[in-house]
Order: sequence, then C-alpha cells, then structure tokens
Amino acid sequence: MNKKIAVLPGDGIGPEVTKQTLKVLDTIGKRFGHNFEFKKGLVGAAAIAEEGNPLPEETLNLCKESDAVLFGAIGNPKYDNNPDATMRPEQGLLRLRKELGLFANIRPVKVYESLLDHSPIKKERVKNTDMVVFRELTGGIYFGKKGRSEDGTTAFDHCEYSVYEIERIARMAFEAAMSRKKKLTLIDKANVLETSRLWRQTVQGIAIDYSEVEVEYLFVDNAAMQLIIRPNQFDVILTENMFGDIISDESSVIAGSIGLLPSASVGEESALYEPIHGSYPQAAGKDVANPIASILSGAMMLDQFGMEEEAELVRSNVTLLINKGLITQDLDPLHFISCSKVGDVMSLLLDLNVSDIRFENMLEGKLPVI
Ligand code: IPM
Ligand code: MG
Repeated sequence: MNKKIAVLPGDGIGPEVTKQTLKVLDTIGKRFGHNFEFKKGLVGAAAIAEEGNPLPEETLNLCKESDAVLFGAIGNPKYDNNPDATMRPEQGLLRLRKELGLFANIRPVKVYESLLDHSPIKKERVKNTDMVVFRELTGGIYFGKKGRSEDGTTAFDHCEYSVYEIERIARMAFEAAMSRKKKLTLIDKANVLETSRLWRQTVQGIAIDYSEVEVEYLFVDNAAMQLIIRPNQFDVILTENMFGDIISDESSVIAGSIGLLPSASVGEESALYEPIHGSYPQAAGKDVANPIASILSGAMMLDQFGMEEEAELVRSNVTLLINKGLITQDLDPLHFISCSKVGDVMSLLLDLNVSDIRFENMLEGKLPVI
C-alpha cells in the first residue's frame, strides 16, 4: 500500500518523539511491503519563528493532500506566560482541527499490568482500567465567539453546540461501545448549562438505536472524582470539547504517565494522530522524553489504513518493551532508557523474530544481544 503522511513535529519534545515513530513506521513499511511517504511541515512556535504564522498555508495544504497527519506537540512557555501575545502556537493546532474537520478526538486509556505500581492511584483501584474518551473537538467554548469589552475589564467566551455536532460524535462513540464493553458515559453539566442539556437530550435520542448499550450520565465534577475513585467502571466516555480536554488529561495519569497515551483526531475526510502529552519544553533536546504515546498514535494510524496486523504488532511490542522494564525516565527515574533507544529497540523488535532477542544489559545502554 502507498500512503502519504504529513509529519508535523512541532515544538519541544515533539520532534524527538515523532522521530521514533518514523523509525517504527519505516520498519513496518519494509516488513510488510508498504510505501510510506513522509513529508514534513512546520507548525506551532517553530512555524511562528520561521514563517510568522502558527499554521502556514503550505502546512495546511500538505495535510489536506495527505492520507493522514502525524503530529508531535505544540506550545512554548514564551507564549504561555504572556497573556498579551497576539499570536500563539496553539492557534496552529486549533485551526488545523477546524480546517480538517477533525470533530472527534479519541483517546484510549489502558493500564499495563507491569506499570500498576507507577500509577499515582492505588493499584487495586486502577487494575483492569480500559476505557476510551470521545472528546468533541471542533465546537463548544474553544471555537465560540470570544472578546473583551471596550474598556478591557470584561471578557467572554461563548459556548455553543448544535444537534448535528453532538449527533455525529455521539454515534461514533455508541459504535465504539458496541465493539467494546457496551457501556457509554456522557459527561456534562446538565444541572447548570443549556448546551449540556442539549447534549443529554440528543444522546438520549440516539440511545434508543443502541438498546444494548448501557448509558450513564455524570456531571463533570462527579466524573472527575469517579475517575480517581474507580476508573475501571468506565468503558466509553463521551463529552464536549472543554470537559474532554480536562477529563482526558486526568484519565491519562491513571496509566502511570501521560507519555504513554496516544490519540486520534478524526473527521469525514482527514485524520490526525498525536500523543496526548504537550511539548514538555524542560525535556526538549535531552533525549529523555517518552515516545510511546507517539508510537501508539502511529499504531492508531495503521488501524485507519486498514493495517490491523501491523498495528497489533506495534502494540504488542510496546507491551513487551514495557514488561521487560525498558521504560523511559518519566516511569523510572533510576533505571531508564532514552527516547531514541526506545525507537531503536522497537525497530529491532519489529524487524526480527522476537524470540531471537535477549534483553540483558539493555538498561546499561547496550543494544539487545541477538
Ligand atoms: C489538547 C491540548 C490542546 C487543547 C491545546 C494545545 C490547544 O491541550 O490537545 O488536549 O486544549 O485541545
Ligand atoms: Mg489538553
């Protein structure tokens, strides 16, 4: 198969984690006879620095003509600490989501048995957690009208949703529930917000078509507690843009590190794959970042290409690597391997018969003995 992939490494640790995913995809391509054509584009603070625009037209066009987008990370403290900045790296990602119509952000959260001790939550509570968050991505308060009063002392961000916007992602989430544990939780704030009441009403209407799916409604404040108290009660979580941003970061730490979790942002015609972590500027260039979230995002891309066997191979080797204790500094500050080493070992594992690999001495910095 031939696939054109737009690669947008972005800021901070984005470039180094993305590089590892490219190693993995290259190896998969060779092993299975696929031709992945990678083309790089500028986005975020890196694009502001070079082009004075967080999403240059050239990058947008590249994404539009590609089969998929592999995204690194976005953000730079220079802008975070300056509320007066008129241009921000994040605008690049938000515009890209809107322009490509990526209305559903899908974030699977699964705990690895061997990492149970790494979760900040007690292991009896996180055990067997396996859920997926469906976050609406192109509507709500993120994209509503925003502004200031003339004297600058009042500001507003408008939140709006249409039935159409709710329905398209809700159906996707119900379909996912059907192929999983058949439970869907809508997270909203229907006791206060009108938009949330429209979400509830719309979801109740769709639920009639999915009578096998158990539907539960939780207010977002309660959901934030439930995620910590009993994360394994969830299967599919459906929520709007802003709640989804917060809830999905909260869910991600349950697994032990935000550096483990991938995401897919999908629309009718395009799809973008990105780790859910941010640009982590303190670690940039140090080769210590965890590339697993990016590599698993690559696996989600393979799924979209219909390459299920390939995707499964990537996932099972990630699990193997983690079970062998070959993890990055975020998970073990004493015994860890580097970001680039994760990519190298993954490529080796994907290239060879796993049973031929011995993992001795890996943590001392040597490559596995074959
Ligand atoms: C995310 C990020 C973005 C968001 C930022 C970078 C604009 O936090 O993808 O979750 O808020 O959507
Ligand atoms: Mg976020």
